[in-house]
Amino acid sequence: MVFKKGKKERVLSYFIKTYGCQMNVNDSEYLAGQLEEMDYKKTPDLNNADLIILNTCCVRKKVEQKIYSMAGRVSQIKEDNPEVVFGICGCLAQKEIENIAKKIPYIDIIFGPSQITSFREIMELYRQNEGKETIIFCDNREPLKLANKPIKHHSPITAYIQIMKGCNNFCSYCIVPYTRGPEESRAAKEIIDEIEELASKKYKEIMLLGQNVNSYGQGLSNKDNFLNLLSQINKIEEIKRIRFTTSHPKDFNLDLIKVIKDGSKICEHIHLPLQSGSDNILNKMNRKYNMKQYYNIINNIRKCMPDASITTDIMVGFPGETEEDFQETIKACQNIQFDSCYTFIYSNRENTLSPFLGEEIPLLTKKKRLWALMEVQKEISSRINQSLIGKTVEVLVENRSKKGIENQYWGKTRTNKVAVFSYSNNDSLIAKLVYVKVKKADAYTLFGELIYVKRE
Ligand code: SAH
Ligand code: SF4
Ligand code: F3S
Repeated sequence: MVFKKGKKERVLSYFIKTYGCQMNVNDSEYLAGQLEEMDYKKTPDLNNADLIILNTCCVRKKVEQKIYSMAGRVSQIKEDNPEVVFGICGCLAQKEIENIAKKIPYIDIIFGPSQITSFREIMELYRQNEGKETIIFCDNREPLKLANKPIKHHSPITAYIQIMKGCNNFCSYCIVPYTRGPEESRAAKEIIDEIEELASKKYKEIMLLGQNVNSYGQGLSNKDNFLNLLSQINKIEEIKRIRFTTSHPKDFNLDLIKVIKDGSKICEHIHLPLQSGSDNILNKMNRKYNMKQYYNIINNIRKCMPDASITTDIMVGFPGETEEDFQETIKACQNIQFDSCYTFIYSNRENTLSPFLGEEIPLLTKKKRLWALMEVQKEISSRINQSLIGKTVEVLVENRSKKGIENQYWGKTRTNKVAVFSYSNNDSLIAKLVYVKVKKADAYTLFGELIYVKRE
């Protein structure tokens, strides 16, 4: 979009700040795609952008506070320059709707995750209205319309694809079903067509996204289930790796283990959020599985794919969580030996049932539990990674070292571990599959030596 100011014409610029999960990252890719189609150009400079959008999350209170503080900064920019357009979208927008405009009066447009591909129409309305009123579009029941929509991917190597929207699970602590609405699966053909196009553009890795990918296909024909979807993607030649997240233990199908094992491109990494090691807490969380069932899944994965990595999410301080409950979580981590674990302090969310299910745990106790859990996990992750020393792992090279170390590159193993290696300063390896012999390892990274480059 070219903007005429006086006699001068200049190109308008946009700045998007994304909070939250990979689904939000993917939503921002759709936003950027639409904006570039409208001739906006991306700027890394918040202070010089003509349009600023915060794509928000509200899964925990802390992230909300961060967003409000950022919104305060943007309001200041808008106060100084009223021509700047200020938008808020994503899960916090959907939760708060018009309340956001009350809290932050400078906002011009508010829209929910389900309206992400309607951005052009929303901007159209804003212009017609000459910016006099806040434009609000938040309806989490609106179906997803992702097919053939413009998109600007965050990476030229890995593409994110939402295979479904929403969530029907209503875990008692979680706000996502309220922000992203009911579950709805995209037709398999639509997904496959999109991946074939990505393959023709030389994408190597596909990350399938859904809040509970194991229930993909509900409401579609019988054939369109998650296992068939994976098997079909596995046949697309140019795609070298397939990943997916998140799996829900209650729907984790044992046949999936076989499909992963047999699918040469399906990475041996399973992210399976445990949340708690106590049956009592799992029940209050409405997770619909118990520890026996969870252990059963883990044993089956290990039996079939001993080298697979298993990662998880765990939350401490759920209402009423006793020290014994917490110790059961620690015990579960020690028994299962996760490769890594995202740890969270429970946070009360509006509309959820959890605050009524037990007494609130004091913040200091929650923090102490978090630290203890993190320490246990760090030791486990280090030990597992160090057991790889001397082994050769396949790495999809992403980029030069994040730390700016000369001649150093990094990528991910099939098991989703970050691997770093040296190579004479030559970017020709980026986006290639290479083999690296592990020489050193800590809880977060493998350090190795390049052995050879896989022929394409
Ligand atoms: N659908 C995915 C992701 C949900 S959000 C899943 O089922 O795992 C990602 C993680 O945030 C969750 O796994 C959970 O551990 C954490 N989380 C969700 N709600 C939370 C809350 N109210 N307080 C703290 N952590 C929360
Ligand atoms: Fe939230 Fe549970 Fe749905 Fe995950 S499965 S998004 S934790 S309600
Ligand atoms: Fe993701 Fe946060 Fe929404 S985790 S689904 S952006 S509440």
